[in-house]
Amino acid sequence: MTTKTSNVLQTLAELGVSGDAQVPPLFAELRAEFDRDAAAVNDEALWKEFRDAWLGRKSGVLAHITDNWLKPAPPELKRAVGQALNELRAHVEAVVEARRAAVEASAEREATARERVDLSLPGVRRPIGTHHLIQQTFQEIARIFLSLGYTVVEGPEIETPYYNFEALNIPEHHPARDTMDTFYLDLPAGAPPRLLRTHTSPMQIHVMESQQPPVRIIVPGRVYRRDNPDSTHAFAFHQIEGLAVDTDITFCDFKGTVEYFVSQFFGPQVKTRLRSSYFPFTEPSTEVDASCHVCGGSGCRVCKFSGWIELFGAGMVDPAVYGFVNYDAKQLSGFAFGMGVERFAMRKYGISDIQLFFQNDVRFLRQFP
Ligand code: DAH
Repeated sequence: MTTKTSNVLQTLAELGVSGDAQVPPLFAELRAEFDRDAAAVNDEALWKEFRDAWLGRKSGVLAHITDNWLKPAPPELKRAVGQALNELRAHVEAVVEARRAAVEASAEREATARERVDLSLPGVRRPIGTHHLIQQTFQEIARIFLSLGYTVVEGPEIETPYYNFEALNIPEHHPARDTMDTFYLDLPAGAPPRLLRTHTSPMQIHVMESQQPPVRIIVPGRVYRRDNPDSTHAFAFHQIEGLAVDTDITFCDFKGTVEYFVSQFFGPQVKTRLRSSYFPFTEPSTEVDASCHVCGGSGCRVCKFSGWIELFGAGMVDPAVYGFVNYDAKQLSGFAFGMGVERFAMRKYGISDIQLFFQNDVRFLRQFP
């Protein structure tokens, strides 16, 4: 910064100035130095130093000149020095102010550049949640049945043995009760027993008790069984129950509905096979198999090299069930089915461990946006 000519500390006499003519060159030299200083000012800190060096009341260059040149000047030089000093002061003040404005403007430009928002940059994506794969599978299955005129109903997870078993034609000591090891609620002695439903089928009874045919419903929901957790068992999982009852529903309607559903869910290339089975609440009962959607039936890991995948249980509603809900078994017929939602999702997406659905590891969940 400014290397103030040391002569500003000297008097005119000491500098050997004795005539008017010597004054302007002296000031011209100062002004040239000032202009060099001014040119170097490029930030606020430098500007303050610069201002104080030239305009500071006690030790600024102009103060020194006033004290050392003007005040002690002999009368014949006073006028010339005073005039030159005024001109220099006017110049210094104007330039100091101009530099202030320039420094401020460039600081502002820099700040603006630093803070500039680049609207062309890709935005920051906030991760948003997705529906759990079980929920997605529910919705996919429901969509197909809704398109066929079915309605979605839901029911209680706490049930009585009557709805969970009896009215579904599963009397006490029936072996079918053993396959659905049941959680009973721990209730005060003498209270009527309650259990966690082992399937969504009890809703068949609730719905038929409360409405007359035609019935066309699906029932999504959580069910509970005393199973030890492993890759295919969980103590809580999800089912979708289906029930269609009317005056003229035949086995063909049943088969057609099942085939339509399977082809909608797995794709038109997938074939359906009905395999005879047993459920107390259907007669005849079937297991619905689909040709393997992965290998097309030639055999692979997913279908365990059988070409077929077991999908769900179903059948024509057993007339005994109508007896429990006061439906006229002579006038009515229908079919029912019960699908495991986890199983569907596992088959469709090649998931080999049912526990993945319950662990809620986001690395798993994120794969199904
Ligand atoms: N409730 C049966 C189960 O949980 C599944 C089932 C099979 C439901 C056949 C039905 C059916 O409605 O007709 O294993």
